Amino acid sequence: MKRILGVVEKAAASDTTILLNGETGTGKGLLARLIHEFSPRRGKPFVPINCGATPEGLLESEFFGYRRGAFTGAVADKPGKFELADGGTVFLDEIGDMSPELQVKVLRVLEEGEFERVGGRETIRIDVRIIAATHRDLEEEVQKGTFREDLFYRLHVIPILLPPLRERKSDIPFLVDHFLEESARRNRRPPMRFSPEALQSLMHYPWPGNVRELRNLIERLVVLKEGDLLEVADLPEKVRSAHAGRESRRAATALPGEGISLAAAVMEFEKALIRRALEQAGGVKYRAAELLQIKRTTLLEKIKRYRLEGEADES
Ligand SMILES: Nc1ncnc2c1ncn2[C@@H]1O[C@H](COP(=O)(O)OP(=O)(O)OP(=O)(O)O)[C@@H](O)[C@H]1O
Ligand SMILES: [Mg+2]
Repeated sequence: MKRILGVVEKAAASDTTILLNGETGTGKGLLARLIHEFSPRRGKPFVPINCGATPEGLLESEFFGYRRGAFTGAVADKPGKFELADGGTVFLDEIGDMSPELQVKVLRVLEEGEFERVGGRETIRIDVRIIAATHRDLEEEVQKGTFREDLFYRLHVIPILLPPLRERKSDIPFLVDHFLEESARRNRRPPMRFSPEALQSLMHYPWPGNVRELRNLIERLVVLKEGDLLEVADLPEKVRSAHAGRESRRAATALPGEGISLAAAVMEFEKALIRRALEQAGGVKYRAAELLQIKRTTLLEKIKRYRLEGEADES
């Protein structure tokens, strides 16, 4: 996190487009706001647009606004989010979910700083800084043809990858302290702490929901628990058992009496490692290939051979 903040501080000073990539709950939204607050635009608006949650038909007028009479219900002119953000920052969240038509229009704003309102003829010029975020592998979306290559390169000026929490476990104790203090303050409770064993369990759990999941868990524990010590028994079963699973796997390595097929076993092992890498990379294949220190094309071949396609698309 400190390393990332170093990049953020430098990038914030400029007007460069920033692309944040990471699984759900890794802090993309938080970081986007932080970049704006560190930037010379801090006194101006920060306008988030969720490209995934807004219905497709509404997105264009949401982005660019509309002129009176552009469609039924458009009874007066309305400015869009880009116009409202003039001088400030637009945060395009879940940009990987945007339709191809809208991608063209956004590309034009990025390149020329101009657009028209829906139903309008007048060209509007604005000055905004763009920060985009996605949990998807945009490079892969480009190859599949669902994301425009020119827009990808336009966004990919300063990419920042937010690793999943399980790949930066050393952040966990700091986050735990931070959230314990924050939750105690918010709920007007005395400060609490975890027993060393409970903290160990938190370190072992893979946190599929990342920092958000950790924050919510601590909030719940602080509200529900009497006293000031949080112990292993207070943790949810899945967090407790993450630790136990590790021990039992280690014990199961003795060979059976009839022996094993080394080739088959190695293949199974390879398959399991690929699965784990894909899972850790949140389905982002070039990340998974990096984790396995192989080429992306090699990984794609193996995914095909082992028929892991369906699984690779899950995040
Ligand atoms: N480094 C951090 N320090 C403190 N809080 C953090 C940190 N990273 C994330 N959080 C908190 O975790 C929660 C999730 O973060 P955020 O909403 O930014 O994630 P996200 O990557 O945008 O997720 P999604 O893709 O689901 O929108 C927020 O409450 C945020 O404040
Ligand atoms: Mg978010």
